[in-house]
Amino acid sequence: MLSLLVLISGGGSNLRALLEATATGDYPARVIAVGSDNHAEGLAHAEEFGIPVFVVEPGSFDSRDAWGRELLARIEGYSPDLVVCAGFMRILPPVVVAALTPRLINTHPALLPAFPGAHAVRDALAAGVETTGVTVHVIDEGVDTGPVIVQESVRVEPGDTEHDLHERIKTVERQLLVQAVRDIADGVVDLKETAAR
Ligand code: GRF
Repeated sequence: MLSLLVLISGGGSNLRALLEATATGDYPARVIAVGSDNHAEGLAHAEEFGIPVFVVEPGSFDSRDAWGRELLARIEGYSPDLVVCAGFMRILPPVVVAALTPRLINTHPALLPAFPGAHAVRDALAAGVETTGVTVHVIDEGVDTGPVIVQESVRVEPGDTEHDLHERIKTVERQLLVQAVRDIADGVVDLKETAAR
């Protein structure tokens, strides 16, 4: 049974999809803790499932590195097999990535390497692409540059707002993330092999 620690910053619908998958009884992973950089509304999903939560706010620290070291300490305190960033809107400091990768994955609402960064959906719309999508990847020391685990395309529809498109992406994303974690737990995806590509 793969133990997951999930990091969020917002509504946590991807987290909820993982929580619901773990509750089915035939999912090879369980969420042991949820962390955030703020008192995110998505933490309520963890509380509903009786899972411990923690908040490590960057503003409480003198530097990104100090924040990173505290975040890492909280994560390691749970000894998770896998850390999943699911709508975590901070760049992890090198000290965190170095300690955790490749047991550290992220989901991103674009077909990386296209549209990295915090505004992927807006950027795809602005670029006028007909197709965008979602990527689950191993986090490396770059920003949204780590080796891809799985990607899926999502069509952009005429008249899409950023919200419309992001919701359509998230419908695919939640399923893709749940399947990717299942594949990692079942050994179908080998993170060391993925990271070595
Ligand atoms: C997801 O699309 C994620 O890829 C992006 O932010 C969104 C978070 O959605 N970074 P939620 O908080 O899981 O609903």
